[in-house]
Amino acid sequence: MSRENFGSRFGAIMALAGSAVGLGNIWKFPYEAGSNGGGAFMLVYLFFVFVIGIPVMLSEFVIGRRGQRNPFGSFKTLAPGTRWFWFGGLSIFAAAIILSYYGTVAGWTLEYVAYAIGDTFHGRSSEDIGQLFSDFVSNSYKPLLWQVGFMVLCGIIIMSGVKNGIERCVKTMMPALFVLILLLDIRACTLDGAAEGLKFLFVPDFSKLTFNSVLNALGQSFFSLSLGMGALMTYASYISRNENLTGISVRVVVADTFVSILAGMAILPAVFAFGVDPSAGPNLVYITLPQVFDAMPLGYVWGIVFFVLLTFAALTSAISLLEVCVAYLTEELKFKRLSATALSTGVIAALGVLCTLSFGPMRDFTIFGRTFFDAFDALSSNIVLPVGGIFICLFVGWKMKTMSVYSELSSGGRYPMGMFRIFMFIVKYIAPAAILLILLGAIGIVK
Ligand code: PFF
Repeated sequence: MSRENFGSRFGAIMALAGSAVGLGNIWKFPYEAGSNGGGAFMLVYLFFVFVIGIPVMLSEFVIGRRGQRNPFGSFKTLAPGTRWFWFGGLSIFAAAIILSYYGTVAGWTLEYVAYAIGDTFHGRSSEDIGQLFSDFVSNSYKPLLWQVGFMVLCGIIIMSGVKNGIERCVKTMMPALFVLILLLDIRACTLDGAAEGLKFLFVPDFSKLTFNSVLNALGQSFFSLSLGMGALMTYASYISRNENLTGISVRVVVADTFVSILAGMAILPAVFAFGVDPSAGPNLVYITLPQVFDAMPLGYVWGIVFFVLLTFAALTSAISLLEVCVAYLTEELKFKRLSATALSTGVIAALGVLCTLSFGPMRDFTIFGRTFFDAFDALSSNIVLPVGGIFICLFVGWKMKTMSVYSELSSGGRYPMGMFRIFMFIVKYIAPAAILLILLGAIGIVK
């Protein structure tokens, strides 16, 4: 069976950047950066993204493009007769778990697009807006409808295939996202009092930079770049053999980092200009920002722009997770694309229901002392992604033949790679050791 490929380099870059740019950039980064010492966090984050993130991303590309399959199949092809494919199985499981809780938050975003269009925030006090959010997320059916609706939307895109589904969608949504975020930046940075927000984001305050912030920066870089769980590996298997993987990875990492910084520059100046608390944390987007939009000239329009942008970001990330499961079912279990998509979407939406209800009727139902939503989040970002990252590095660094790695990275010698030795050194030693540290930090062994 011949496999579909992305039709162009632009399409491939937009798909990979679409996976990377998501709720992690817009919902999490500004808050993380602001509360972990601003510019100080940023320096550490940039170090991780460029020194560890690029080599790990390249390792995923090498496995995916050389294996020409989903993560499970690629490990089977590249290391026949070994148990490495178990790791591929873990990726598929991780994709399903991440997408089930990602869909909950993405569903809220859709409701907020509707609120913004209906001018629902207008004239409400901050308590009212907070109440609106808690009433909505704890409602017994509304967030479910949006979450399932979001999953169906992902299913429709994925069902249409790599070129007609994924590539077509990212080629319009990603450029639109860049334009929308730039518009928001211009608006936010020209507000009176914006400078305070920029200071909070950029001026380094090393006194706030703790060991924990360093761990947060590493964890955030993995989540934000979609590393460690096979999503980029799957997409890489659709990149043509003629493309330069190093060039693509640098572009994707730069785009992802740029969007995180732009998101911080859109959100924090606005938050400071209107005197609201920047440490509102995960509520920043759904409670604090609507207040800010309401107080802003033309806030009605900016509110819509923001939530549409957030929806695009979530959607282009979510489809990369769904594709991992669909590629596995079609290639390994010989499902038709249609039934593979229906099955994956159905199972993930059902798991997602547990996460969505974690804020309402099932809030007292816990596993390991956490709600489903929190348990899925913690399990995937604190454990599965770092473990995945370590295995990917060990596979490329120690299991694959160095010649094969070089041949894949240089596309058969077409694009000689100058820093190959440094790359191998990082993948063999530095990245696994650093990731092990986050892992131990996350489970509390290292403090
Ligand atoms: N990178 C996405 C974000 O920043 O929101 C989240 C994500 C997508 C993580 C895909 C992992 C993944 F495989």
